[in-house]
Amino acid sequence: MKTLGIDIGGSAVKGALVDTKTGRFLAERHRIATPPRITPARMAKVVAEIAAHFKWRGPIGVGFPGVVAGNRIHTSANLHHGFVGCDGGRLFSRATGCPVALLNDAAAAALAEMRFGAGRRFEGKTLLVTLGTGIGTALAFRGVIYPLEMGHLPRDGKSWEQLASSAARERDDLSWKDWGRRVGKYLAVMEALLWPELIVVGGGVSAKHRKFFKFVRHRARMVPAQLLNQAGIVGAALWAAENRR
Ligand code: BGC
Repeated sequence: MKTLGIDIGGSAVKGALVDTKTGRFLAERHRIATPPRITPARMAKVVAEIAAHFKWRGPIGVGFPGVVAGNRIHTSANLHHGFVGCDGGRLFSRATGCPVALLNDAAAAALAEMRFGAGRRFEGKTLLVTLGTGIGTALAFRGVIYPLEMGHLPRDGKSWEQLASSAARERDDLSWKDWGRRVGKYLAVMEALLWPELIVVGGGVSAKHRKFFKFVRHRARMVPAQLLNQAGIVGAALWAAENRR
């Protein structure tokens, strides 16, 4: 089973051909850097470029950093506002000529981590948090993934995403210690509301977990994502392979 998975992010679009039985990449990942907030039409061209790079003609799964219902995009906190209300499935399938299934990027990462990564064989309630340009959240329980939007919970007139994302660490020039403490405060709110048994921390920065995990307070067991920043691509491919409409 071979499917193309694509992960749309704040600064780049990444794609790879994924073996959906094993979660492994079948060829090297292709990454195209994008300027901030490019329009949906330009983004569709970038997605088409990725499909063309792999000469792909088949189902494509696309992870998008916003609320997705069906194939429709409802929010776009860190990308162009023109995505709001747009049928992302249609936009990307017109551009690529392939059937496209869309889902939230954190839900895609959770799908991959629960199937092949840090949550494999774990049936209890799991919270996946991705720390990147934004904060992505999804809950997993007994094989079902629930996309959440917990990065937008307010705190002191801002959102937690503005305070504790990886982008916030860079923007505010925080030490790993100060940022780790902020992430811990955020997780305390998540734990009070959701009571996960396991917390999986993903996003590109999870590769550097040794630098900041020691400063993050948590009650549940906390582990770094195993698929690191490949999880979004793998999960998007799984979604397309298993949810063909
Ligand atoms: C979006 C979420 C997304 C997260 C991570 C947030 O700003 O609202 O849908 O999962 O960023 O990309």
